[in-house]
Amino acid sequence: MILLLLMMSEQTAEKQVVTPWVATSDSAFDYDKLVRDFGSTKIDQELLDRIEAVTHKPVHHFMRRGIFFSHRDMNSILSAYEKGTPFYLYTGRGPSAGMHMGHLIPFMFTKYLQDLFDVPLVVQLTDDEKFLWKKLTVEETRKLTIENARDIIACGFNPEKTFIFSDLDYMGTMYPNVLRIQKMVTDTTVRGIFGFTDSDCIGKHSFPAIQAAPSFPTTFPHMFGDRKKIRCLIPCAIDQDPYFRMTRDVAPRLGFHKPALIHSSFFPALQGAQSKMSSSDESSSIFLTDTPKQIAKKINKYAFSGGRDTVEEHRELGGNCDVDVSFQYLAFFLEDDARLAEIREEYSSGRMLTGELKKILIGVLQDLIKKHQEARAQVTDDVVRHFMTPRPMEHILFPKKETS
Ligand code: TRP
Repeated sequence: MILLLLMMSEQTAEKQVVTPWVATSDSAFDYDKLVRDFGSTKIDQELLDRIEAVTHKPVHHFMRRGIFFSHRDMNSILSAYEKGTPFYLYTGRGPSAGMHMGHLIPFMFTKYLQDLFDVPLVVQLTDDEKFLWKKLTVEETRKLTIENARDIIACGFNPEKTFIFSDLDYMGTMYPNVLRIQKMVTDTTVRGIFGFTDSDCIGKHSFPAIQAAPSFPTTFPHMFGDRKKIRCLIPCAIDQDPYFRMTRDVAPRLGFHKPALIHSSFFPALQGAQSKMSSSDESSSIFLTDTPKQIAKKINKYAFSGGRDTVEEHRELGGNCDVDVSFQYLAFFLEDDARLAEIREEYSSGRMLTGELKKILIGVLQDLIKKHQEARAQVTDDVVRHFMTPRPMEHILFPKKETS
């Protein structure tokens, strides 16, 4: 079954494995190949133009720069938006100790989408998933859920239109839809999609139904009542796509729209673009709790450089932005297109040295992390409780009482 997930590129026999739990590749990820293998659609200029035409705003730099690079059914969402038909956003996170910068990407993007479309958002914290897959007690995962919720809230979501939930707490309300999905999916199917085997506990085999359920509006009666035809858009990293291929398969049979998706590439580890960052490896990433000093030290010491061995060589040949992690991080976090283009030009011509490039990045990251830490400090227990309490929202979301 794993064969379905193991993708060998024909000419080079390089291995690239992408599942919700592993993302490794012998060299840089071949995202075009992922799009082909997963059967999603690449985000092209036509789609970007349409988003700008529909929203009258320039698209986010994550889309302009191909960081969010793939989608399913974005056009249906844009058509719904054009007609004024409501839809909602759904994203999530498996709570962990030590959130790093890569973990912010989907939430920064989701915050942008919520502001752009002014729509409700649900955020699933899969403490159950972490309990099943990691060496953690139920009590420990509960704590991580609350701590991660603080970081998520610090991204600035609309408190009136955002519901963040722990699976452990919210399962009662979700359970009818979880059950409906469980009844529609055979074990052969989840083994095929996720590679589960005889020796995986039964919790794992049934978990995909739990990640699928929030894609359907009736999972949130306090927000959507019994409306079944509200569309859902899921921003996520491409490795989560298998869950939603399964979800899209069952949706019409249960009377729901298939959820639409917008996929990001992986945030590179400091050591290079081959693998996703790991929360357990201190040196592979910048954590949201790092001090300005730690940030500077990690970038200077670990960020893989596309620069040359000696200054003379660098001045002559220039740096390679395509493999340089500092440059890639700037592509994520430096919004100013003109400035980024200038840095690319300076660095690849050899006029800018690696140390200078790193200094720019360090400044950008220190600023971003500082702002995040300040925002997080404002997130009191009461604020967390507010976001995580199922509260009547229908009157806010549907003030005109239109039919679904
Ligand atoms: N499985 C995801 C993780 O481990 C968490 C998650 C749940 C999620 N629902 C989601 C991620 C929806 C993106 C979109 O992080």
